[in-house]
Amino acid sequence: MKIDQRSALIIGGGSGIGAAIAAALVSRGAHVALVGRRETLLEATARTLRAQGGMAVALPADITIAEERARIVERAHTALGPLDIVVHCAGTMRGGPLNALDNDAIEKGLALNLVAPLDLTRRLLNEIRRRQGAVVFVASLSALMPLPYAALYSASKTGLRALAESLRHELEPAGARVLLAFPPGTATAMTEPFAARSPFARPPFYQLLPPAAVGERIVVALERGQRDLFWPGAETALARVYPWLPWLIHPLLRAQRILLAKVFSSEPYL
Ligand SMILES: NC(=O)c1ccc[n+]([C@@H]2O[C@H](COP(=O)([O-])OP(=O)(O)OC[C@H]3O[C@@H](n4cnc5c(N)ncnc54)[C@H](OP(=O)(O)O)[C@@H]3O)[C@@H](O)[C@H]2O)c1
Repeated sequence: MKIDQRSALIIGGGSGIGAAIAAALVSRGAHVALVGRRETLLEATARTLRAQGGMAVALPADITIAEERARIVERAHTALGPLDIVVHCAGTMRGGPLNALDNDAIEKGLALNLVAPLDLTRRLLNEIRRRQGAVVFVASLSALMPLPYAALYSASKTGLRALAESLRHELEPAGARVLLAFPPGTATAMTEPFAARSPFARPPFYQLLPPAAVGERIVVALERGQRDLFWPGAETALARVYPWLPWLIHPLLRAQRILLAKVFSSEPYL
């Protein structure tokens, strides 16, 4: 799809992969509205994009709250007019043993990673279909290969993948697109504490990707009309084999249980 002059709502656009997607869209002439809770961070990201000649606005909101979701759609329409693209990139990763999470963490995690993308997509569905736009979901390889000690994250990302795949039947016949991206480990605020917790989650054992490259690749895939986006590498290969031959990968996951328990400790990443 052609990106120039398209309007995009980027949920989680203030930092990490979301900010990189915003930069890649703006560099191709899109107008963007960035959503997140931290107003100062959002404003700084929007200012940087405007300094590069782009059109970018900050829309601070907590998307786990239904009223705030309704409000950002209204404010995005006021700022940008009808929307062509929505990017679902906000997310949280609460890991560790499931019984170390309380109900509030579970409800907030699902609200952010799954309920908000469902509700926001519902609110924008008609205009995206009419304008032959696109919905972009930033999932995770754990949507294909659920990881030990990441039950909440894996369940929410698997739900996000199902949402994207089901939605294709509603959008593609009208010429609108659904892009589902499965980035491997990327160097953002989300993964920073994991790298600090375990030497095996950092070089030379593991190399996180730069978020700018991930965002750029996602926008290239959007331009090309790709449906699923994977990155090369062992992690991706294992996750792609897992749904077909889970018994082959289980021993490996079992062997890594202790390491993953440490990496995905139950402390929140922010
Ligand atoms: N990094 C990786 O290795 C990796 C790999 C695969 C998939 N992903 C996915 O990529 C997405 C982006 O993560 P990231 O790695 O770029 O980390 P990040 O920089 O921490 O991005 C998360 C974004 O979500 C926003 N957010 C969190 N809670 C929110 C809320 N209640 N309301 C509105 N916005 C909220 C944050 O902004 P505020 O804090 O200001 O609200 C932040 O901009 C996530 O969905 C993640 O699961 C990441």
